[in-house]
Amino acid sequence: MVQLNVLLADAQQQASNHEANSMLNSMFNKENLDKFKIGVDQVVQLLAQTLDVQQKPFSGIFPHELAKQFADIDLNQPLFDIQEALTEVTQLYLKDAVYFNNPRYLAHLNCPIVYQSILAELMATAINTAVETWDQSGGATFIKQSIVDWTLSKLALGKQADGVFTSGGTQSNLMAMLLARDFQCQQHTGHINKQQGLPQDFKRLKIFTSQVSHFSIQKAAAILGLGYDSVVSVPCDEYFRMDVNALNQAIEQCQQQGDIVMAIVATAGTTDFGSIDPLAQIAAIAKQSGAWFHVDAAYGGGLLINLSFG
Ligand SMILES: Cc1ncc(COP(=O)(O)O)c(C=O)c1O
Repeated sequence: MVQLNVLLADAQQQASNHEANSMLNSMFNKENLDKFKIGVDQVVQLLAQTLDVQQKPFSGIFPHELAKQFADIDLNQPLFDIQEALTEVTQLYLKDAVYFNNPRYLAHLNCPIVYQSILAELMATAINTAVETWDQSGGATFIKQSIVDWTLSKLALGKQADGVFTSGGTQSNLMAMLLARDFQCQQHTGHINKQQGLPQDFKRLKIFTSQVSHFSIQKAAAILGLGYDSVVSVPCDEYFRMDVNALNQAIEQCQQQGDIVMAIVATAGTTDFGSIDPLAQIAAIAKQSGAWFHVDAAYGGGLLINLSFG
């Protein structure tokens, strides 16, 4: 029995040594640089082949057909080498991916990306900087801050303005509605949500946004405990821009009911139409009604690049 335990312990030790060794052999470091270069070359070649044969943006495969191919994948069985992994990923991903770079791709608002971004992504991933503290991230944090400052200067928001990177429009809208909610609660009743939670009369808080704005505004309202019902949908004009007369009417009604105009959310580039709400007019209405003014530029924000370099 003692002998068996020793044998088992030995086998376990060998297995964990093997795992540790194969992990070390795979680390991105000086020792493995040649293997890394070969791997990068293999990936680039595969991408080149993929673009070469690709006639249309999408194969048209249905999810249930694709699902069958995943049934036999066993993640507990590592693949032998990069080539084997690339063969598998070609079958499971590249073959039926949607290619935004294809000139015939029109379905959604996704756009092709510039190759320099891919190179930057490769570098950032290789170094894997943790940008949460200065001691871990000097240059990377300055890069981030410079891009935030550049964006703010294009938006002409003034010296007090600042910004953060987010994962996208949903997170940005959530953050904006959180700021708006907490600001208005403190403003109207001195209530501090961060400490005290929502005030009893939180149902008075209303968010105004156009009928074609992004659904993440409703989602943000739900996550923040205000519920979908707190979002007032404002009709649009014939060009799918928020109708300012309708906005004024909706605000008037809200105030007559004793409710609070918590925020007005305009959209600079709506998801389905690309329409831009009349921002200056809406800003004036927000100022007059004491509302927090938020512009969702998740889509139209890209125009800043065009205006600057276009
Ligand atoms: C105007 C607008 N806002 C918000 C979003 C949500 O962005 P994300 O998918 O990055 O969370 C989108 C996405 O299409 C959008 O078009």
